[in-house]
Amino acid sequence: MPGWDPQQYLKFERDRSLAVRDLVARLALDRPTRIVDLGCGTGTSTRVLHRRWPRARLTGVDQSPEMLREARAALPSVRWVRADLRTWAPRSPQDLVFSNAALQWLPDHRRLLPRLWRHVAPGGALAFQVPAPGPAREPWARARDRVLRRPGYRRLRAADPVEENVLSLAGYYDRLAPGATRVELWDQEYGHVLPGPESVVEWTKGTALRPVLAKLRSEEARADFTRRYATEIARTYRRRRDGRVLFPFLRRFVIAYRGRGRRAGPHRNA
Ligand SMILES: C[S@@+](CC[C@H](N)C(=O)[O-])C[C@H]1O[C@@H](n2cnc3c(N)ncnc32)[C@H](O)[C@@H]1O
Repeated sequence: MPGWDPQQYLKFERDRSLAVRDLVARLALDRPTRIVDLGCGTGTSTRVLHRRWPRARLTGVDQSPEMLREARAALPSVRWVRADLRTWAPRSPQDLVFSNAALQWLPDHRRLLPRLWRHVAPGGALAFQVPAPGPAREPWARARDRVLRRPGYRRLRAADPVEENVLSLAGYYDRLAPGATRVELWDQEYGHVLPGPESVVEWTKGTALRPVLAKLRSEEARADFTRRYATEIARTYRRRRDGRVLFPFLRRFVIAYRGRGRRAGPHRNA
């Protein structure tokens, strides 16, 4: 898949950071000293963590050199690590293992969650946010699928990472409750107000549409697909009276706290 495009991603930074701010505000941690931000991207989420706990030792992990370059320029005091989260492990347990809008790209959460949990220090927490699968996510995904059903585009159909990877609230609870003193889980829908339907196209191009666009070899083919997709999006997201569109986005949040009395469990160094 082609690399992430930091400029494309940052176009909606304010809206994208709403969920990370909500998750950080909900965290009941007393001055964590070691924090890791998994799939930190351009550092939007890392910046929110830094603002809340400016004295913490922060590490941002991502596999994209382009995204990390942007992050490093914005927050030079953070330790930035290029690694694939499928195999990543920290040097020592962390007081907060955090991730915003990244774990949905990783398969097999039934194994992933217990693995990440092992890196949480006693008294610490694992906290993450991912897009929620299901009907509420459907409008833009249905628009994408309508284009993909057309002749010439069927070969582009790819597994949808959110539908494939993200577990139900119960699925996350079952994985984390056995080792946690408390687990909090919730879904929240954000009604992003965007200037027009073309913004929905731009937003999804920067993230969820990437697996489809990656399969198109030429710029011309990508432009052709995007044009058809944009027509479907304009039919789906009608302008409100003020000319803007509402882009509903359902997100899933999980926080699991590890008690102080418990052992951190087996820990493997990187
Ligand atoms: C949607 S961005 C989220 C960035 C940031 N957390 C934020 O809140 O803005 C997802 C990030 O996950 C990263 N990512 C996806 N799969 C990954 C993997 N297997 N290992 C490391 N990073 C990964 C991508 O490179 C991308 O920067």
